[in-house]
Formats: sequence, C-alpha cells, structure tokens
Amino acid sequence: MDDTVVVLGSANADLVVAVPARPAGGETALGSDVETIPGGKGANTAVAAGRLGAPVAFVGALGTDAHGDLLLDSLRSAHVDTTRVRRVDRPTGTAFITVTPDGENSIVVSPGANAALTPEDVDLTGAAVLVASLEVPLPVVEHAVALAAAGGVRPVLNLSPVADLSPRTLAALDPLVVNEHEAHALTGGTGDLLALGPRTAIITRGARGARVLTPEGTTDIPAPAVAAVDTTGAGDAFAGALAASLATGTTLEEAARTAVLVAAISVTRPGAQPSYPTADELGRG
Ligand code: RIB
Ligand code: NA
Repeated sequence: MDDTVVVLGSANADLVVAVPARPAGGETALGSDVETIPGGKGANTAVAAGRLGAPVAFVGALGTDAHGDLLLDSLRSAHVDTTRVRRVDRPTGTAFITVTPDGENSIVVSPGANAALTPEDVDLTGAAVLVASLEVPLPVVEHAVALAAAGGVRPVLNLSPVADLSPRTLAALDPLVVNEHEAHALTGGTGDLLALGPRTAIITRGARGARVLTPEGTTDIPAPAVAAVDTTGAGDAFAGALAASLATGTTLEEAARTAVLVAAISVTRPGAQPSYPTADELGRG
C-alpha cells in the first residue's frame, strides 16, 4: 500500500540571532552569538512528519557545502528518505533570522540551491500524501500537484510564501494551508478560502489554533496555552504533522488537532527542526 508522505520544498541553513528589538532601516542592532540550525520550509515539514514516525521522502536540492551536509544529517536523523535529494553547484539555501524576546521572528531567505529544483526532480513513488511549500520554483510545485492529482495522491499545499497559483492547482488541493496573513492576502480580507477553489482549506492562527474549512462547514480547533520562545517553523511543523496524520487515514479535523498540538510544542523550544516533538512526546508512540 502507498503510505509515504512525499515532501517537496526548500532546505535552508537558518542563521539565527536573538536581538532585543528588530532594527529599522539604517539602524544597527547588537545580537547574540549566531546559531546555525537546520531549517527551510520543506525540510522542516519533512522532519516534523518523520519525527512522528511517518514514512517520509524529501524532494529538494542542496549545495555540496557544509550547510548541505547539516541538512542531510537532520533529515536522516528524523528517518527521512533522502534519496530524492539532489546536490547542486549552488550554495545551500540560507535564511537570515532575527528573533525578538516575544518569540517573534523576521526572515530573509537566499534560495541558492532551492532555486535549482526542476519538475524532473519530482518523484511521488509510494506516496499517499504530497505536501509542498513555496520556497522552490512555482512550476515545480504546480507540476507536483498535477502529478499527485492524476495519480490518486492527496495534495496538501502550505502556500507559504504566498504565490499566484493556477485555478487548476488550487482546485486539486485537499487542503490548502495558509496562516492568517496569507489568508488575508489571498481573499482580500474575507477569509473565504474555499471560494478560491480548493477542496478544503486550513487557516493556522498562531496561539488561537487553526480553522478547518470544508464544504460541510467550519471548525475552529483551539491550541493549548504555551509560553512561546521561538515561532520559527511552527507552520511547517503543522504541515508535516497534518500530512503524517492524513497518510494514516485520519479525518482532516483529527489531523488538524494533532497538527495544532505539534506546532504548539514546537514554539516552546528554540529553532525550527530541533524543536519538533516525537510521537512518544505526544503520547502516540
Ligand atoms: O518557516 C520557517 C522557515 O522559513 C525557516 O526554517 C527558514 O529557513 C525559512 O525558510
Ligand atoms: Na521552535
């Protein structure tokens, strides 16, 4: 039986500095020692799903540099199949991240190797679920969603950062996943994501949990109250946990409940990938 979660997306080395306050244009801020942490929306999603025990394969591109090795190690230690990863002659993607004391981050991404990904790299062998995100070229994502839809693979898309999807891609998504800012940008403030055409949609709402939208109705899923230290990669943790849960045949609402929990745990610890829980920690081991 096809049971694999195929994750398509970016892998970045996150260069993280804690700052008391974010500098405005023309200002300089002194921060903490820099930390180099495995990140990138795609690799984060794959690690989150892998930690929960799902069979996961990652489709992505890395440079042949030390950051590429760091990302591979992190993926492999989460039991992610990395045979669909291509190493290219570009620097591994890099994210420059500042984190303020309230746990909020701001990020500049240099795509590097991620920009070298092509439609030919997409391999959905064994997939039950495809989960993609948008720090890789849009045509690659649209190709993967079309392949999934044609092959009976459930396409999940975390539309982060926001991109202009074709109506055909939108119509295949089950679900489209966005955060509140992205939902606002996409719907012009109405929040009616289903009007854009996806089969189902989820809005992640930070400390307020998630909203699941299906043709049958809307369900709000609350998040447990936690002390946030670093929200970096919380949305990716949500997407990975959601896909892992859907691949086992749960309902969308049940999968979203697990994903809210996983994302909530992730914000209580620094960094993206190192902060994601295992199935044991969720009491599901
Ligand atoms: O979503 C969080 C991720 O965005 C970080 O890990 C960083 O690499 C950027 O891609
Ligand atoms: Na975190």
